[in-house]
Amino acid sequence: MTLWWQKGIVYQVYPRSYADSNGDGIGDLPGIHAKLDYLQWLGIDAIWVSPVFPSPMADHGYDVANYVDIHPLFGTLADMDALIEAAHQRGIKIILDFVPNHTSNQHPWFLESRSSRTNPKRDWYLWADPKPDGSPPNNWLSVFGGPGWTWDPETQQYYCHAFLKEQPDLNWRNREVRAAMYGALQFWLDRGVDGFRVDVLWHLIKDGTYRDNPQNPDYVSGQTPYNSLLPVYSTDQPEVHEIVREMRALLDRYSERVLIGEVYLPIHRLVSYYGAAQDGAHLPFNFQLVTLPWSATQIAAAVSEYEGALPLNAWPNWVLGNHDQPRIASRVGLAQARVAALLLMTLRGTPTHYYGDEIGMRDGVITPEEAEDPQGKNVGLSRDPQRTPMQWSAGRGAGFTTGKPWLPVSMEHARCNVAVEQQDPDSMLGLYRRLIDLRRAEPALNAGSYTPVATQGEVLSYIREQDGRRFLIVLNLGHSSHLFSQRDAVGTVVVATDRAREGEPINQRVPLMGDDGLVVLLNGS
Ligand code: GLC
Repeated sequence: MTLWWQKGIVYQVYPRSYADSNGDGIGDLPGIHAKLDYLQWLGIDAIWVSPVFPSPMADHGYDVANYVDIHPLFGTLADMDALIEAAHQRGIKIILDFVPNHTSNQHPWFLESRSSRTNPKRDWYLWADPKPDGSPPNNWLSVFGGPGWTWDPETQQYYCHAFLKEQPDLNWRNREVRAAMYGALQFWLDRGVDGFRVDVLWHLIKDGTYRDNPQNPDYVSGQTPYNSLLPVYSTDQPEVHEIVREMRALLDRYSERVLIGEVYLPIHRLVSYYGAAQDGAHLPFNFQLVTLPWSATQIAAAVSEYEGALPLNAWPNWVLGNHDQPRIASRVGLAQARVAALLLMTLRGTPTHYYGDEIGMRDGVITPEEAEDPQGKNVGLSRDPQRTPMQWSAGRGAGFTTGKPWLPVSMEHARCNVAVEQQDPDSMLGLYRRLIDLRRAEPALNAGSYTPVATQGEVLSYIREQDGRRFLIVLNLGHSSHLFSQRDAVGTVVVATDRAREGEPINQRVPLMGDDGLVVLLNGS
């Protein structure tokens, strides 16, 4: 039997940017609520809601000051309850973002912890003495630039932070920390949420003796400074798996809840997050489609490597984009973004889709005065462009807000928006709608086996099959035409990047234009 989170599609909402119900320029929970009909029409199964908890917003909510409440910008607990209920009525699940590696420096726990060395919460965070010369305890770096330690003059120690100094790292070796954090998970589970996406799961535990990270021999200057060291002592420590097991055990006390982990690691390390006995995360995010060059040979090899590395009974998953990564339509171009849609929706495993990709949103253009993202301000790589407001209509504010949007609405919203694309079957949204429809209806696509097909050039091909029903997927990741030949390729095109090809009979020789992608139902199915 396949569970909802195996055959279903996860849709990520970045709440600040989805729909603003009160005109303050920032999206909110009632805004998401009002779009449930759209999401049901689109055919997704679960919404992952990025953080909506009280927060000073140093990292737009990934700095949580209270794990068991809602930030007034986004609404109230009652709004969250109403969203969960209304989503469930439509058969849509709600997945919350859980940020366990660090809290806000304004969280009462940290305020207590930093108040004195003898405070009972001192050990809830990672405090350490300076080196004799007064410098930080070791060479660890912050992902967001600068040292991974900040000096506290009051208590004369450094505290550790993998991200901003406003995001102090919790000490997950401390049992009280674990109990408090599991209490937060339980709070939301009891309110009916269907699972969690766990932020930077592989960062949770650090080397107990704070050893220096080694230099990265492959570092090329110009890359983000964080990459100058290999974070072998500050991330992916063996003890992290005990914590993942504890989180999973908690979820398993409820029925069919899902544990998704954000883990940016190579495949052989990533798959360890499923747990040695399948008792870890259900879905450690697989970011290969985000991190690899857009090349058929590279992607074909990566899919096979991943399929081969998956532990027995582990369920695969795929991601094309999220709030931290440039949008797919900007990365590979609009024509290839259609091919990418076919790929995401036909690979074996749970797809996670980023809001706006279904209409082909591209990275927005943000002036320095409009910049919001702390990563962008500190180390360049701004994430603002992929966080611009959802484009609902051609009007002012793109139907996102009646006020001044917190990030500018893309100039492209006049032609790239839900209202326009819903009327146009040739649009990106039309394509996504047909693909999702097909995927939902066909066990071969949402649960079936995956078999790679040998190809040449920039063509990627595979077969999905279940109960004798077989689909051949042929994707041209290049811009030039290509003749794809396959003895078994006899059938009918059911979904295509170019809608004119839908219904076309296929007989062994399949001419592909550049940027063409086809889903073919094979004869005899
Ligand atoms: C994760 C989030 C990112 C955030 C960081 C720190 O990578 O996805 O948005 O800035 O963690 O919490």
